Formats: sequence, structure tokens, C-alpha cells
Amino acid sequence: MSTKLKDLLRTADLSKADIELLLDTAAKFASKPLRSKKALSKKTVAIYMTKSSTRTRLASETAIAHLGGTPVFLRGDELQIGRGETISDTAKIISGFCSALIVRTFAQSDVDELGRCASVPVINALTDDDHPTQLLADWLTIRENFGKNISGRKFVYVGDGNNVATAWLIMGATMGAHIVVATPGGKWAPNSSVVDAANKIANKSGAKIEVLNDVKAAVTGASVVYTDVWMSMGDSESDRAEKMSALKPFMVTPELMALTSSDSIFMHCLPAHRGEEVSAEVIDGPRSVVWRQAFHRRTTIQSLLYHLTRGDLKGNN
Ligand code: CP
Ligand code: NVA
Repeated sequence: MSTKLKDLLRTADLSKADIELLLDTAAKFASKPLRSKKALSKKTVAIYMTKSSTRTRLASETAIAHLGGTPVFLRGDELQIGRGETISDTAKIISGFCSALIVRTFAQSDVDELGRCASVPVINALTDDDHPTQLLADWLTIRENFGKNISGRKFVYVGDGNNVATAWLIMGATMGAHIVVATPGGKWAPNSSVVDAANKIANKSGAKIEVLNDVKAAVTGASVVYTDVWMSMGDSESDRAEKMSALKPFMVTPELMALTSSDSIFMHCLPAHRGEEVSAEVIDGPRSVVWRQAFHRRTTIQSLLYHLTRGDLKGNN
């Protein structure tokens, strides 16, 4: 029996074939954004966010418009959900008015519940645990730079073991890549359940997963160095001083980039804090692809909406 992926709730929901299809279509949308301008014609897509966003909101609203649809932006504090209406009731109402729901919030369990209760596709646009739409843009950017043959290349995430690090590990494992995550040990390392999940996927895909504390060893010979903010949305301010001090050696500097391969690129999901996780010379320098990466948030969300609403994705089950 063939299965159909209804929602994108986690990076792990996507198979390699799904990702290849999404990236192929996204590459087409990059050169011709209006090529499927009737796909969402006369349809509305809700975007519900309880956390800040610049790129994901802009990318989602423009992607929906390019597909001929109308975005409806819903702020968490303006919905009745903020006054105690249940997630389940909210999901039913959104499903009655809209053809899909893009959601950014804190708890992954809330997005999972929206997926269960909504009859329309639900897309995770970032939770405390994961950031699947970001990784689609990242992987398209990687493919543009290195092509589809990634054998012998090392892709390294440096910094906080957060939601983006999780998505990096799972996406890289699915794509059969050599993935390295370099973080301080203990509290700021990726969750062991995430590393176990990545290794399980890697056993089938042929990926190689490494989680290191030695940042210099990690980036030596790397094709990609990727980092993210050290304080994520929802992180406790009481941890700030301890976290900044633990992460200091993980700042991406020109000295660190000098250890990478001669054709290496620097990536960052943005927003960036120059002087914390990355120096200005690196993010504003010639190896940085962060603006192309940000542009691909729109092309990949457009592709995701297109294929998910048509029922083209198969998922992993
Ligand atoms: N990278 C990303 O998700 O950016 P925003 O928080 O601006 O949406
Ligand atoms: N890890 C960051 C990513 C922002 C796009 C956060 O969750 O705030």
C-alpha cells in the first residue's frame, strides 16, 4: 500500500526521495517563481506563529502568493488559543477555512497535536526541537555549491546543540552525508536521542555521523561550516553567561575557516550575532553563502507547499 505524507512535523518525516523531489522543484522556483501560479489559486494558507520570524514569515507569505494563494497570518497572542481554546478546536477551525497551516511555536508536542487534529497539511516552521523547512533551504544551497555528489565531503555544524543542530544531523543522515556536530559537552550538546536517531538513519543511508567537542578537529578539511545563534528563542536568560562562556571557543573565525577545504562555504540560518557565534569577517566575507541560503527559504517553502498539498510526498513509513 502506498503511503502519503500529510504533514511535515519533523525533519525525520522526509525520505531522501521526498527531499530530492522538493529540491528539484525548488531549483525551478528559484529561476521562475510564478511557474505554478495556479497551484493555490482561490486557496488560503494560515501561518500561525508564537515566536518571532523575519525570513520564515516572509518566505511563507511570498511563496503562497507566488502559488496564487492568499496567506492569513495569525499571531499567537491574538487567537482564542491564548485564552484557553484547545489546540484541537483551533485545528478544526483552521482546517475549515484554509488549505494548509504553517506553524512556528515552542513545544514540538503542540505541532504534533495540530498535525493530528487538522485535516489539512501542517508544516513545522520551527519548534524548540526542530527546524525542517530551514534544512531544505540549506541543502539546496549545499547542492548549488557542490552538486549532488557529496562523497568525500564533510559538513560541519559548530556551536549550540539546538533545534537547527538536530535538523542538521537528521537531514545529513537521511542524505547519506558525512555530518559533524561540534559543541561543548554536557548541557549544550545535542540530545542523545537525536544522535541515536541520526545514527539509526545513517546505518541505512550510509551517512557518517560524528559528535565532537574539539572544534578545530571538526572543521579541518570541512566543505561546510554552519553555525546558529547561541541563545535561541525560548532559551532561559539565566543560562546566558554560562552558555556564552562555554561556547566562546566555538565562534567561527577566519582562523577556524583557514582549516577548512579550499572550496569551503560558511552557512548560517540567520539571524546572526556578529562577534558571538561568528566574526563579521567570516559572515560578510567571500566564503559566506548566507544570503543565497536565506533566499532559498522562499523557493523551498514554495516547493514544499506545492508538493504537500498535491499529496506527492511519501514520507518514511
Ligand atoms: N532562519 C529563520 O528561521 O529565520 P527567522 O527566524 O527570521 O524566520
Ligand atoms: N535556533 C534558533 C534558530 C532561529 C532561526 C532559534 O530557535 O531561535
